[in-house]
Amino acid sequence: MRILITAGPTREYLDDVRYLSNASSGQMGYALAHSAIQAGHEVALVSGPVRLPPPEGCEIYHVETTDEMYAQCETLFPECDGVIGTAAVCDYRIKTRKPGKIAKTGEAITLELVETIDVLAELGTQKGHRWVIGFALESQDARFNAVRKLYSKKCDAIVLNGVNAIGSTENYVEVIDQSQETVATYSGEKSQVAESLISWVQAHIAGK
Ligand code: CTP
Ligand code: CA
Repeated sequence: MRILITAGPTREYLDDVRYLSNASSGQMGYALAHSAIQAGHEVALVSGPVRLPPPEGCEIYHVETTDEMYAQCETLFPECDGVIGTAAVCDYRIKTRKPGKIAKTGEAITLELVETIDVLAELGTQKGHRWVIGFALESQDARFNAVRKLYSKKCDAIVLNGVNAIGSTENYVEVIDQSQETVATYSGEKSQVAESLISWVQAHIAGK
């Protein structure tokens, strides 16, 4: 298979030097890319800024903003069999980005934020025969929210992970498919979890 993977955070700039972003190390996406390559697949990895070397044998596309991530994914997706969205996409961008550097005035300021494009949901609407797998990071009503995202983003499965996954080398995940049931759970080092997830995708999603 040829698999598209999104990873890392995106950045949304207020001005030329400041940005909003997410706390994401990119580890899960990079581990999945590594495992997929080890399993004999081709990987196109679209990554926000992280401090990780791309896995050997991986096609890497560096992006910064959510719009850049979407544009790169939109180009790559038609040539892929499916997408795994692990990116911690910045949900909001500044309505009007200011050129240069906004000077301090000694007063409080108000930023007007608008939602960014939902990369995975957009790919979901374009998927045709391709498969889409999302990740959901939930701090409350986890299952309910994960299932809601599964449908709203037209995913074949969604991987639910807790907020303690951020920055950790370990993870506990539940795979929920369109039956709304948990069909697999994995825990341990992210590298092991990634290997198990790729095996699960091969066995249950690929060639649907
Ligand atoms: N995602 C995306 N583009 C966005 C937001 C999310 O591609 N603008 C993807 C993520 O990569 C992940 C899935 O959607 O695979 C779920 O992300 P999550 O942040 O849990 O859900 P949101 O839909 O953004 O909802 P919220 O943050 O409000 O919980
Ligand atoms: Ca989000």
